[in-house]
Amino acid sequence: MSPLRPRPPAPRTPVAPDAVRAAARYWTTGVAVLTARDGDEVFAKTVSSFTTLSLDPPLVSVAVAAHSPLAAAVRADGRYAVSVLAADQQGVGRRFATPGAGRALGMFTTVPMHTEVTGAPVLDHCLAWFDCRLKAVLPGGDHALLIGEVLAADGRPGEPLLYHDGQYRQLTAQHAMTSTGAHA
Ligand SMILES: Cc1cc2nc3c(=O)[nH]c(=O)nc-3n(C[C@H](O)[C@H](O)[C@H](O)COP(=O)(O)O)c2cc1C
Repeated sequence: MSPLRPRPPAPRTPVAPDAVRAAARYWTTGVAVLTARDGDEVFAKTVSSFTTLSLDPPLVSVAVAAHSPLAAAVRADGRYAVSVLAADQQGVGRRFATPGAGRALGMFTTVPMHTEVTGAPVLDHCLAWFDCRLKAVLPGGDHALLIGEVLAADGRPGEPLLYHDGQYRQLTAQHAMTSTGAHA
């Protein structure tokens, strides 16, 4: 960081991926699992790029590796779900971040899931879920930004699973802020 000086010319080239990675690790997020089906196959991937995009109409977004089998399944089937993980679901987060582990025939045997409205798999015992119909796919470099119309959603109070500085973490009561924010 340096004091404000007259504006230097803007650099002409973007930073290297490692520079973005080095900064982005300090952006604290929740942890969710993106799920979809395509024919007999089911797909799941741990994601932190989930965002509630719009309330009216109800839209959510998530960025997924553009050339992943899951992205292909969402494009083909047009339906998917996002399940927000609870603090005690760290094992599920790790599993679906493991290369090759997020694909199965029929259903995942060790991670129970069910369906809600669209037929996309929703994780049992998650903190919240969003059941979506694909509305648009925007190009985002090596990722694709999935924009989904929320057809059903629900949540329950509980400890969320967090991710910060390359580690899974959880909130603690001592760290809760007492004032409420302006954004409800
Ligand atoms: C906390 C966390 C958040 C992640 N967020 C995303 C994400 O938003 N989008 C994505 O495509 N991959 C994300 N990943 C990476 C994928 O989970 C991981 O690369 C993928 O599941 C590896 O399996 P595959 O190679 O079989 O696809 C995240 C990983 C972790 C640990």
